[in-house]
Amino acid sequence: MPEAATGGGATGGETFDDAERLSPEALRELQLTRLRASLQHAYDHVPFYRESFDRVGVHPKDCRSLGDLVRFPFTVKDDLRSQYPFGMFAVPKERVRRIHASSGTTGRPTVVGYTERDLSHWADVVARSLYAAGGRPGHTVHIAYGYGLFTGGLGAHYGAERLGCTVVPASGGMTSRQVQIIQDFRPEIIMVTPSYMLTLLDEFERQGVDPRATSLKVGVFGAEPWTQEMRREIEERFAIDAVDIYGLSEVMGPGVAQECVETKDGLHIWEDHFYPEVVDPITGEVLPDGEHGELVFTSLTKEAMPVVRYRTRDLTRLLPGTARAAFRRMEKVTGRSDDMIILRGVNLFPAQVEEIVLRTPGVAPHFQLKLTREGRLDQLTVRAEARPDATSEERTAAVGMIARGVKDGIGVSVAVEIVDPETLERSVGKIKRIVDARPRDTH
Ligand code: DLL
Repeated sequence: MPEAATGGGATGGETFDDAERLSPEALRELQLTRLRASLQHAYDHVPFYRESFDRVGVHPKDCRSLGDLVRFPFTVKDDLRSQYPFGMFAVPKERVRRIHASSGTTGRPTVVGYTERDLSHWADVVARSLYAAGGRPGHTVHIAYGYGLFTGGLGAHYGAERLGCTVVPASGGMTSRQVQIIQDFRPEIIMVTPSYMLTLLDEFERQGVDPRATSLKVGVFGAEPWTQEMRREIEERFAIDAVDIYGLSEVMGPGVAQECVETKDGLHIWEDHFYPEVVDPITGEVLPDGEHGELVFTSLTKEAMPVVRYRTRDLTRLLPGTARAAFRRMEKVTGRSDDMIILRGVNLFPAQVEEIVLRTPGVAPHFQLKLTREGRLDQLTVRAEARPDATSEERTAAVGMIARGVKDGIGVSVAVEIVDPETLERSVGKIKRIVDARPRDTH
């Protein structure tokens, strides 16, 4: 029987591959070699990069140290969109083995491509991530990230196979069948968005199955922000270890960074493939490690679609390595700048409300943020669901507790509505927390 995935320290000191044990000096040297090659590759093969480097008068040869990267221009999502569909590819189309794309709900989709070697590196970093989560060869991995153009399903899939696991490619949806399959196939690991894990939790309970009595030992959750409170809720309700996996399609997909199960202290960035910076989101100035700002990535090994200083819009900070000493960690992502609500001058992220909702007795971990407009003022209503066993006193008290929690913790007044159990829409993938019911053309 494979070991680990038993939670709590079973993986101490072990790693999936040798690169994870590089010294910090050796890692920096490897990064510089790869960075120089990657900048040159982008410049030589992608007209967009050649033009943008030329415009600011910088050449790949100017990169003599990692610090020189600041001289190169940023790349933003709109740049990728403007090259739709294949303008960012740095290899001939025949060498592209796979294409993924973002959903494109907010404009043209962004398209990403992978060569055979890119796919192999991707499988490696996901295998490494799963290992850090406690996964071992021989484990069964239930993958409920969506399969398709979204990178979650297939990215997780090939990584789990690379590690030597048995993969159950469940994808998202058909929730009642997922519960059946989990009982029958007895996976040790589940990979899914945290919000869909809560949907599965409801379904376990609906079917009268004890979610603490499954074969599951570890959940590898990502693709959306989730809080420490959510970790506690899921760990407690399922009796599993819950760890965080991060990634984005523009940079690769899942497996850019991973939290280690033995420390659960933020996500180690696989810096031998992805070079991170944190910048001031307004000025673009590079911030020292430890300071909060926007995460920026430069790919170090990608062939089909290298990215140079790609602005993720994800807010976090860089911290020193722990369980993987050479690799810096990123703190759990507090939010995307896109999801920030500015309410009467105060910035508010859904994750801040999540913390408050999950601390409130009698309230389930399901909530929505509804924006409306009264006169010229925006109003925010936190709509949270009562737990099925909540008393009417608890429901009444919850209104005040959440409103006070937001006022004291975030500094703005909101309305609170406690709705009946099972009335808010459930997630099957990435959850949408914000419902914008303001009149169009006014925002
Ligand atoms: O969500 C890739 C992925 C799949 C990651 C499965 C982890 C697990 P995109 O659809 O391109 O790719 O969305 C990327 O999702 O910029 C973050 O805003 C958010 N995100 C991803 N992982 C996390 C996480 C995939 N662990 C965008 N915590 C990113 C918070 C996350 N946000």
